[in-house]
Amino acid sequence: MRATRKSRKQAEFGDFQTPPGLARAICALLAETGLEPASLVEPTCGRGSFLAAALETFPSLRSVLGLDINAAHVRAARAAAARLSAAAATQVVEGDFFRTDWPKVLRDRSEPLLVLGNPPWITSAELGSLGSSNLPEKSNFQKHSGLDAITGKSNFDISEWMLIRMLESLKGRTGTMAMLCKTTVARKALRHAWENEISLATADIYPIDAAGAFDAEVDACLLVCTPGAASFDCQVHQHLGTGGLAGKIGYRDGSLIADIAAYDRRKHLLGPELYRWRSGVKHDCSAVMELRRNGAMLHNGLGEEVRLEEEYLYPMLKGSEIVKGRTEAPSRLMLVTQRSIGEDTLPIQRRAPRTWRYLETHAKLLNRRASSIYANRPPFSVFGVGEYTFARWKVAIAGLYKRLDFKVVGPVDGKPVVLDDTSYFIACRTRDEARHLARLFNSAIAREFFASFIFWDAKRPITIELLRRLDPIALSRALQVEQITRKHLEAAPAALRADASGPRALFTQEATLTVPRPERRPAT
Ligand SMILES: C[S@@+](CC[C@H](N)C(=O)[O-])C[C@H]1O[C@@H](n2cnc3c(N)ncnc32)[C@H](O)[C@@H]1O
Repeated sequence: MRATRKSRKQAEFGDFQTPPGLARAICALLAETGLEPASLVEPTCGRGSFLAAALETFPSLRSVLGLDINAAHVRAARAAAARLSAAAATQVVEGDFFRTDWPKVLRDRSEPLLVLGNPPWITSAELGSLGSSNLPEKSNFQKHSGLDAITGKSNFDISEWMLIRMLESLKGRTGTMAMLCKTTVARKALRHAWENEISLATADIYPIDAAGAFDAEVDACLLVCTPGAASFDCQVHQHLGTGGLAGKIGYRDGSLIADIAAYDRRKHLLGPELYRWRSGVKHDCSAVMELRRNGAMLHNGLGEEVRLEEEYLYPMLKGSEIVKGRTEAPSRLMLVTQRSIGEDTLPIQRRAPRTWRYLETHAKLLNRRASSIYANRPPFSVFGVGEYTFARWKVAIAGLYKRLDFKVVGPVDGKPVVLDDTSYFIACRTRDEARHLARLFNSAIAREFFASFIFWDAKRPITIELLRRLDPIALSRALQVEQITRKHLEAAPAALRADASGPRALFTQEATLTVPRPERRPAT
C-alpha cells in the first residue's frame, strides 16, 4: 500500500487499522446477505475493530478468535471485546499467522464459520527492503496447492498468501471469508482458487474508499467468498453500500476475464494471432540510446551534445506519442545497434566511427544494464530487434495507457519508425495493410473482445498476450472483410506472420520483406 504517512514498523506489519465505522458497515452488509455465523476468526485482528463490530452485529456467534503478532494490539483488542457483553466465548491471542495451523483452528470450531479481517498490506519486496522476516516460510506449507509457487516469486503480496491460506483452510467447511485487501490481491486470490481446485460457490468484490479509510492511494475492496460447488464467477458491486452490480469478472478457458458478458459475446474472436505481434526495442539505457535532434546536433538524456552518423539512428515513438496520435512527428531518435538479436556490433566501428566512439564513451552505463538478456552478447546489444523492427509500416498500440486505440505508424524522413519496449505492433508491408489492420482492431467488436480481458487498474493493462488472443480472420469474417485480410496475409512475408510453419499455416507462398540498409550518410 502506498500510504502517504506511515512509520517503519507500521509498514513492516502492514499495520493499517480498519476504522470502526468501516468494520461495522462491512458486518452490516454481511448480515444483510443472511450470514449468521456461529464462529468468527480474525487472523490478523489488530486492535479489534472487526472483533467488536462482529460481536455487535451477529448475535448468532458462539465463539470468537482474534490473533495478532503485535502484543499492544492484542491488549487493545481484548479490551475492545471485553467492553461488549456478548454471549460468545472470546479469545484474543498473540501469535504469528505464518506459524498458525489454520485448518486445525477452523476444524475445532462450529459452523457456519466466518473468517473476517484485513490482512497486512505489504509486499515481499517491500519487506525485503525493510530487512523484515514477516513472511511465510516455504517449507512449512509444502503440501499446499500452489502456495509455494507464490512464495517462490520475486515479489508477492503477503495478504495474497494469507487469503489463499484461509480459503484452503475453509475447504470442505461451511463458512464465509470476508477480507479487506487491494483489488489486485483479491483478483490474484480468486485466480489462484479457480486454478487450484479451491471450489468457490460465490465470490463478491465490493470496492471501498481506501483513501478515506486508510489514507492509501490504491484500489481496494472487500472480498467475500463462500466455499462450495465450483462457480467461476465473481460479482463486482458498485461499492460497499447498496449501489447494485457493476459487472461480473471470472475465469474462462484458462484466462481471468474482466467482463464475463462481453467475453461471452465476443469469444468467437479467440484464435491464432496469424500476424505476429511484437514488442518495441528494448535497450534499458534511454539516457544514452535515446536522443533529440536540435539543428545539426543531437542531445542525449545525460545533457550531452553529440554528433553521430545517421546510419544507426531511427525516428522513435514513445508510448505517450502513440496514444496522443503524434505518429508523424516523433520527438526522439533511437540508436539501434543491431538488426537482429545477437548480431555482431563490431562493424559499427568501421561503418559509423563516431557512433562507435559514443557507445564506447558510455560503455560503463551500457555494461551496467541489469537484465540478464545482455549477458554474453556483443557489446552495446539491444533486444526486440528483427526484420519486423525495420518494417516501414506498422500498426501499433501503447501498453501502459488505458486506451484501446491502434495507430498506423509510417516512415518518417524515409526511415522506418521504431517503438520503445512499452508498445506493441504488427509489422506491415504497405500503408493499405496497416490501415486495414488498424480499422479491424479499432472496430467496436474487437475493442469489446480485448476489453473483456483488461483490468484497467493493472500497471500494464494491454499486454502482448492479450493482443495475441485475437484471430484477425475471425474478426474480418464478423466485419465482412475476410477476403481483404486474407489477401494481405497471403502477401505478408513469413517473418511477419505468426504461424507460417505451424499446422495452422494458411499459406504456402512466402514473400520476403526487403528492407535495404540505409545508405551511409555524412554525420550530422
Ligand atoms: C491492515 S492491519 C489490520 C488490523 C485489523 N485486522 C483491522 O482490520 O483493523 C494488519 C494487521 O496484521 C498484523 N500482522 C502483521 N503481520 C502479522 C503476522 N505475521 N501474524 C499476525 N498478525 C500480523 C498487524 O499487527 C496488523 O494489526
